[in-house]
Amino acid sequence: MNVKDSLLETLAKADGRYISGAVLAEKLGVSRSAVWKAVKSLENEGFIIDAVKSRGYKISAENNRISCRLISAFLDTESLGKKIIVRDEINSTNTLAKELASAGAEHGTVIVADMQTEGRGRLGRTFVSPKGKGLYMSIIIRPDFSIETASLITSAVACGVAVAVEKICGHEVKIKWVNDLYMNGRKICGILTEASLGMEMKSLDYAVIGIGINVRSAEESFSHDLRISATSIEDETSVKPDRNRLCAEIINSLEKYLSEIETRNFINEYRRREILTGNMITANVNGSTITAFAEGIDGNANLIARFADGTVKHLSSGEANLCRVTE
Ligand code: BTN
Repeated sequence: MNVKDSLLETLAKADGRYISGAVLAEKLGVSRSAVWKAVKSLENEGFIIDAVKSRGYKISAENNRISCRLISAFLDTESLGKKIIVRDEINSTNTLAKELASAGAEHGTVIVADMQTEGRGRLGRTFVSPKGKGLYMSIIIRPDFSIETASLITSAVACGVAVAVEKICGHEVKIKWVNDLYMNGRKICGILTEASLGMEMKSLDYAVIGIGINVRSAEESFSHDLRISATSIEDETSVKPDRNRLCAEIINSLEKYLSEIETRNFINEYRRREILTGNMITANVNGSTITAFAEGIDGNANLIARFADGTVKHLSSGEANLCRVTE
């Protein structure tokens, strides 16, 4: 690891405390002036580092630069996030992840960007991804479960991200079936999972899990309609989360929740957070608009819908979309 990377990692692990130039120099095995030069160089790259004469250096709470080192400093995983690619600007982290996965990228590879020019959502929608305001990340996984089980990836991921966001900002996060995360009734995060099948079409070759979170207030980038339905963590909690820490917490949490897909252990957590349950909903099912009562979530994360004539259907995410609570 070079001096700048080691310095960033050491400052991140200091958890907001100052470390003196002398201690840093000893720890990194370089001179104090080499430490100072590395600090200046990091500042030129946009990192905000507080330097106080008698105390030393610390990563500022205001730092809003995404970095591999600052993410990996907080990782506690066995397989996810061993390789992290950070880009200042990208068309879509999912698009790059799919290219890399097709070329053989390893399980657990993470791509994170500071902004996306062509962020994609479900149903061909755009995911607005302004610079410095959100966390836009994709994770490549190569699970060995069946295609049927693969349909649970998005719900398990929704749980994992909800738990991580809640831990970082201390505010309750809800899930709107299937894959939207909500705070105070408005969307803060969307998830787009794209899978590629193996040769015999019975198993997955890989899946790319794309996660987009509105972290900082970005109303000016949102259209009038989006302002009504979407919000950000900062707008709802006044917390300005460190995106590196949030990203690491999400990766840590996903390792746990992805490992619970086959056992369905995560389903109760999903049910506890789900907000369509108990409401009349309208949804688009295979092209037609239906109205039904959302009774709950079944053991495979399908939505249990009771129709006016008493019939009950378990709707999968593949057949139902655009679900809304009917006023
Ligand atoms: C949705 O709300 O419909 C899903 C949004 C998913 C957005 C994320 S941002 C990172 C990744 N790259 C993309 O282009 N999309 C996903």
